[in-house]
Amino acid sequence: MPVTTTERGWKASVTRPVEWTAEVLPGLLDTTPDDVPDLFGDRKASPKRVLVVDTEVMNRHGDAILNLLARFDIEHPLPVIVPGGEAAKTRITANRITEAMEKFNVPRFGEPVLVWGGGVAHDVAGLAASQFRRGVPYRFYATTLVAAIDAGFALKVAVSQGWKNRVGAYHPAEAMFTDSGLFPHDRERTLDGTGEVLKWFCVDPDPTHFDHFEAHGPRVVQEHFRPDDPEALTIIRRTIAGMMRELAANPFEANSLRRSYVGHGMSPAFEPLVSHGQAVILDILLSLMIATRRDLIRASLRDRIVRVIRDTGLALWHDVLDDGPGPIMDALADTSRHRHGRMSIPVPYRRLGRVTYMQDISAAEVDTALHDLQGISKA
Ligand SMILES: NC(=O)c1ccc[n+]([C@@H]2O[C@H](COP(=O)([O-])OP(=O)(O)OC[C@H]3O[C@@H](n4cnc5c(N)ncnc54)[C@H](O)[C@@H]3O)[C@@H](O)[C@H]2O)c1
Repeated sequence: MPVTTTERGWKASVTRPVEWTAEVLPGLLDTTPDDVPDLFGDRKASPKRVLVVDTEVMNRHGDAILNLLARFDIEHPLPVIVPGGEAAKTRITANRITEAMEKFNVPRFGEPVLVWGGGVAHDVAGLAASQFRRGVPYRFYATTLVAAIDAGFALKVAVSQGWKNRVGAYHPAEAMFTDSGLFPHDRERTLDGTGEVLKWFCVDPDPTHFDHFEAHGPRVVQEHFRPDDPEALTIIRRTIAGMMRELAANPFEANSLRRSYVGHGMSPAFEPLVSHGQAVILDILLSLMIATRRDLIRASLRDRIVRVIRDTGLALWHDVLDDGPGPIMDALADTSRHRHGRMSIPVPYRRLGRVTYMQDISAAEVDTALHDLQGISKA
């Protein structure tokens, strides 16, 4: 019964099905309608689509994307070109996309907006799609590692306003497709995405996935997740599958005990001076230092994770940590406001595969963790 009578009135309660998909498609730009007929949604219902493309993606892959759309007989106006990077993650960019939707008269259903780019294009265009006509569908073609293994199917969209991701919504792309052959071969970008991959393997319920990353990850990272490398594909697929299961079990974050929160409680203190994935890793490192002091994990497990982080080329220390516990405590306070008043910082518990949640981390603990980490980073 969606509406029941209460003592003073009526109460409505409805559930809303949310479905979304994620696919790894090597050779995405060469796809034909025979291979993946629904790559751009139901073309028979309507072939019209608004197209949003990240600037760098347009420079590198613009012709191939336009050819691909032509092969699928997609009708579209000139693409809305949006810059990547945190500075572009604003309402201003989102408004440009909304204006294009209005101009092309995107209907409520049946003409999903096609978004090509990284996490910023996803989050900004997703927010615009969530607001236009109170929600129109969009499809996302992830061109960075971060977008492929996290943002593209993580349900959440946002722009930053003062604080990162402060204004947002839950509005997943109805379908995400990715191909690591599209990713930039830029060491910093690859490492950034690797931070999010490693984040997941630190808390993945299946500890053998960490073992696999430990064995192959550093090479795979060095080679920028080559699309013809089976180990790279395994790492990407396992991250997507694990994260998607985790998110779908708790899609609207009603439960704050969420494994995927690992690395995201303190990291806002380091951004945007530090890129997102690297900030997540600094957060994990400090969490591991605190967990060891609290006797939740042995130093040997802490050191094993630190070694893998170091072997991939991610930094163990950044100047931003010289600011001491103050900004980190501010970030933890904001994190608590987001998580029912509790910090709920996930860390491995005793062994990989198990997780516990740390509460009430004090400034003194953060200070000690910073000293411990500084020592380890210099060793
Ligand atoms: N929605 C979520 O749940 C979620 C999850 C994780 C991360 N994010 C967000 O994702 C963002 C980070 O994602 P990102 O690292 O992809 O950032 P990004 O989208 O800014 O891309 C990084 C840079 O790479 C460029 N670029 C993108 N694809 C390229 C390609 N194929 N070749 C060359 N250059 C390319 C972009 O123009 C940009 O300069 C952050 O804002 C983060 O908050 C969101």
